[in-house]
Amino acid sequence: MWTPTFGVCLILIFINGSFSKCGYQSCNPVKDGMINVHLVPHTHDDVGWLKTVDQYYYGDKNDIQNAGVQYILDSVIQELTADKTKRFIYVEVAFFARWWRQQHDRIRHLVKGLVNEGRLEFILGGWCMDDEATTHYNAIIDEHSLGLEFLRQNFGDCGRPRVAWQIDPFGHSREQASLFAHMGYDGLFFGRLDYQDKFNRALTKSMEMIWQGSPDNLGPSSDLFSGVLYHGYNPPPGFCWDSSCHDDPIMDDKNMEGYNADQKTKAFLNYTQNQATAYATNHLMMTMGSDFNYQNAHMWFKNMDKLIKLVNAQQDNGSKVNLLYSTPSCYLYQLNRANQTWPTKKDDFFPYAHLPHSYWTGYYTSRPTLKGYVRQTNNFLQVCKQLDALAVLEDSDNSTLNIKVLKEAMGVAQHHDAVSGTEKQAVAYDYAMRLARGNYECQKVVNDAYKKLFPKQKEAPPDQLFCNLLNISMCHATENNKQFTMTVYNPLGRSLNHWIRLPVIGRSYVITDPNGKSIPSQVLPISSETKKIPERNGSLAENELVFNVSLPPLGFSTFFIKMSQGMNKSQKSVVHQYDNSDVVIKNQHLSLMFDGKSGQLKSMKNLNSGASIPLQQSFMYYVGHPGNTSVLKYQASGAYVFRPLTTATYNFQPQLMKKNYYVEGQLVQEVRQQFSPWVSQVVRLYDQANYAELEWTIGPIPISDGMGKEIITKYSTGLPTKGVFYTDANGREILKRTRNHRDTWKFKTLEPVAANYYPIN
Ligand SMILES: *[C@@H]1O[C@H](CO)[C@@H](O)[C@H](O)[C@H]1NC(C)=O
Ligand SMILES: *[C@@H]1O[C@H](CO)[C@@H](O)[C@H](O)[C@H]1NC(C)=O
Ligand SMILES: *[C@@H]1O[C@H](CO)[C@@H](O)[C@H](O)[C@H]1NC(C)=O
Ligand SMILES: *[C@@H]1O[C@H](CO)[C@@H](O)[C@H](O)[C@H]1NC(C)=O
Ligand SMILES: *[C@@H]1O[C@H](CO)[C@@H](O)[C@H](O)[C@H]1NC(C)=O
Ligand SMILES: *[C@@H]1O[C@H](CO)[C@@H](O)[C@H](O)[C@H]1NC(C)=O
Ligand SMILES: *[C@@H]1O[C@H](CO)[C@@H](O)[C@H](O)[C@H]1NC(C)=O
Ligand SMILES: *[C@@H]1O[C@H](CO)[C@@H](O)[C@H](O)[C@H]1NC(C)=O
Ligand SMILES: *[C@@H]1O[C@H](CO)[C@@H](O)[C@H](O)[C@H]1NC(C)=O
Ligand SMILES: *[C@@H]1O[C@H](CO)[C@@H](O)[C@H](O)[C@H]1NC(C)=O
Ligand SMILES: [Zn+2]
Repeated sequence: MWTPTFGVCLILIFINGSFSKCGYQSCNPVKDGMINVHLVPHTHDDVGWLKTVDQYYYGDKNDIQNAGVQYILDSVIQELTADKTKRFIYVEVAFFARWWRQQHDRIRHLVKGLVNEGRLEFILGGWCMDDEATTHYNAIIDEHSLGLEFLRQNFGDCGRPRVAWQIDPFGHSREQASLFAHMGYDGLFFGRLDYQDKFNRALTKSMEMIWQGSPDNLGPSSDLFSGVLYHGYNPPPGFCWDSSCHDDPIMDDKNMEGYNADQKTKAFLNYTQNQATAYATNHLMMTMGSDFNYQNAHMWFKNMDKLIKLVNAQQDNGSKVNLLYSTPSCYLYQLNRANQTWPTKKDDFFPYAHLPHSYWTGYYTSRPTLKGYVRQTNNFLQVCKQLDALAVLEDSDNSTLNIKVLKEAMGVAQHHDAVSGTEKQAVAYDYAMRLARGNYECQKVVNDAYKKLFPKQKEAPPDQLFCNLLNISMCHATENNKQFTMTVYNPLGRSLNHWIRLPVIGRSYVITDPNGKSIPSQVLPISSETKKIPERNGSLAENELVFNVSLPPLGFSTFFIKMSQGMNKSQKSVVHQYDNSDVVIKNQHLSLMFDGKSGQLKSMKNLNSGASIPLQQSFMYYVGHPGNTSVLKYQASGAYVFRPLTTATYNFQPQLMKKNYYVEGQLVQEVRQQFSPWVSQVVRLYDQANYAELEWTIGPIPISDGMGKEIITKYSTGLPTKGVFYTDANGREILKRTRNHRDTWKFKTLEPVAANYYPIN
């Protein structure tokens, strides 16, 4: 009678004790009183860069870069299975999910076991390791939700990452830290910060800190422990053992030529002592891996096994250094145990410079069209998710699958070589293609939701067409129909007035709102600069129809639009040429004055207060440093680093300003400026708006003269700002900046221009 009960009891203990130990309890033991070196085997797998995400997954195009993520995971799983003490972290769920889809149950079961024992640990667990400078906070949240939800569904609580791991992004945003704190991470580690900052932190043992992610708003709930890695995310020099590394293996048989075990041991101990001077506790973390490492995990682990054995054997001779296989969270756990009081930080880690002439401020604006497309698609993804929820779409509508396509495309696009603009051209096209496909899938969802939410009538409403190319004033549906209905959705939780611009062929239209009332509109000619955009070659539109719509919160409004005969005077726009006297455009709140000769903006007046400022705006360029690879100080200007050749700026030819003109009408005034054959701008003032809108068109940038051109727009206000200005962090909070100043160290720079650029989203 007793025996079965006893047996059942044993099984329960076995399951709980042996299989369900993950997280901090699963860490390998440390030796108190010694310097514990946490060896963290890891691979850094870019979700697209020199190759596309799928090429990296398969190991396609290995002539470009020898990298195949599928082999990394195959190889690591074997090594982990063979030895309980080994650890590995995996980071980018975009890759892991691809691999997981292809595994049979046996491997999946094995991998779950490794995760449940903390031997394979997910770190960060976003779809990618996102860029921090050029991302919107909304997209950062979505991208992490996507990755973390995958891990939760497949691995439960043992799959939940405890540590955020931003080892490669090119500078770090305070908003990112704040978001991580709210996502529930216990800490954050990263690799790149200004070289002067790093030098000072190493001297003062302040590589690790409490970063206050929102000191003025959210307070302590946004605080996050944050640590700087010692050697980027690379192993100590001489200790890289991947097929893509060039270091000697550990040769430990004295009977053979090339014996180097003693020398390797010494060099490692020396490196450990150096690193220990920079950190506050008896624990050190070393990142044993690098870009796409562990395709041959055996090479790495075999040599690390030897290293651990050799270095720890020195303990018999009084060495106080102890090596162990570990993970970032196990390291963090030991820091927490050490009861240290950490320094705090309130500002961010922008801009990032790795050398005196190498400020990574170029990527804030690299590939601006892709950046714009990513931002716009973020908006559409929010709309898609909302309408899916509002219409309570069901599985039979496939909406979850459709939205997933866009979520994954956006997840990939937030990567630190995607929206950042630092990828190769072919890879940039791949990101754009994914976004286009995702947008298309979500348009189906929006259509389905619209049909379901549409007030019940005899006939279902027809499919809605989307104007995808309003960015170049093109839309097939509005250009090719004399009458049509237009439905606008407002994704905000409050009602909204919004200005609409539709490309049309006619000169006069009647627009009726949802209540059957006709609403005012204006017809403006499309500028010749816009018409010159090559992709517009099939467009018929000569004009844009402009009007303002009022929209309910989280709701649609439908408008009926019909071309009418002749010309309705109230819709007319009058085009004026300059006659050398100053030009003023104004509405109820603002007046803008443009110089009659140069055509440039020269002052702005607030008509409510009467205050006027001498606001000047111009377009200029810096010549980029051509660079050469022979010497570091000849850093070139490029996709990552912004480096003007000199501080001189080149103004665009003033004679082109003769092509300026302005357009007046009842709803909108526009000044249209041409600065060069490839730089133009529209300054726009809508009726009742308390802002002016500046919309520029730049490119293609001529390169036949062999000079790189870093184009800027410059606003001069004459206000006594004392070098203080403000920029946003990922479109959320605002940070104060001071020219030629950093909050946490005495700042000196040889790059007075590039060092003062900050990201704006
Ligand atoms: C399993 O272990 C956890 C953590 O040690 C403990 O909280 C839980 O009560 C245990 N469950 C059972 C069924 O013993
Ligand atoms: C020890 O490290 C220092 C600093 O990196 C280096 O200059 C020195 O050559 C190293 N010594 C040995 C024996 O490796
Ligand atoms: C410890 O030191 C002794 C004397 O120098 C040496 O013979 C022995 O090999 C050392 N042990 C190790 C593990 O290096
Ligand atoms: C840390 O502090 C706690 C509470 O003050 C104490 O119980 C513990 O022993 C301390 N740990 C170490 C490693 O000093
Ligand atoms: C949903 O997707 C499945 C498989 O791709 C397809 O067969 C089905 O027709 C789709 N249903 C709808 C309503 O689009
Ligand atoms: C306009 O948007 C489309 C995507 O909808 C994009 O492919 C295209 O490059 C954009 N054109 C310009 C000139 O920005
Ligand atoms: C002209 O347009 C206005 C609104 O913009 C409208 O109220 C008026 O009826 C139109 N007149 C004609 C003749 O179409
Ligand atoms: C527009 O230009 C593109 C690229 O030059 C070309 O492929 C396309 O055929 C053109 N379309 C029309 C309608 O001319
Ligand atoms: C790099 O630039 C320096 C300085 O202009 C010049 O002396 C050197 O020859 C250049 N090297 C190469 C490889 O172009
Ligand atoms: C937009 O139109 C609505 C009515 O449709 C009107 O109340 C509102 O004042 C207009 N807004 C602007 C900025 O013209
Ligand atoms: Zn990277």
